[in-house]
Amino acid sequence: MKYFLDTADIKAIARLYELYPISGVTTNPTIISNENRDYLEILRDIRNVIGDESMLHVQTLSTNAETMIKEAEFLKEVIGGNLYIKIPVIPEGIKAIKILKSKGMKITATAIFTPQQALMAAVAGAHYVAPYVNRIDNISCDGFNVVKEIVLLLNNYNLDTKVLAASFKNVQQIHNVALVGGHSITANPDLIDDLLKHPLTDWSVDKFIHDWEKIYGDKKMIMYNLHKK
Ligand code: G3P
Repeated sequence: MKYFLDTADIKAIARLYELYPISGVTTNPTIISNENRDYLEILRDIRNVIGDESMLHVQTLSTNAETMIKEAEFLKEVIGGNLYIKIPVIPEGIKAIKILKSKGMKITATAIFTPQQALMAAVAGAHYVAPYVNRIDNISCDGFNVVKEIVLLLNNYNLDTKVLAASFKNVQQIHNVALVGGHSITANPDLIDDLLKHPLTDWSVDKFIHDWEKIYGDKKMIMYNLHKK
């Protein structure tokens, strides 16, 4: 499993990169515009925080292949590093994916709602395909099953493309995707934090400290070891 942060909040990105094994950051035009400041500054700030090796997924805005390619080349030039260009799976997007692939660019096909969209994007050359799990659930379909079928199709056709499942609102959706072999997920920082939360874990940690302090007072374990030497 690879974990990505679906945010452009620099403080949150820095905090979670320090804590967790995060492989990259994903953005889209909505996420960028939520920050309400210069978009290139935002992308450069993210790159500075995560470093050149870490994956940064940035989406194009236009709806024709020619301009998508120009946007991708511009982003590669001004942001650089391990950059993935996100392209929506409209027909012009598939055309752009084929051309960008031939130019050696890394591509994430996005705005995926059906397994056949993912398969077409993968055959066209996308490195990642991003199904929108919660948005699928919200139209009374089954986001988890869409991911399951995408994984099956990628395996059936021996494609190297990986799933980067997106649009999550709860831990159970992420868990379901992991159970069917979704290769990676992207979620907002709060939801990534939620993956670790359990009241009994906190209760157990508190109890360990309480039991220790009953015998050793405020002597911490490291002080105890030093004392013994
Ligand atoms: O990148 C796609 C993802 O951000 C969509 O998530 O929560 O807006 O459905 P959401």
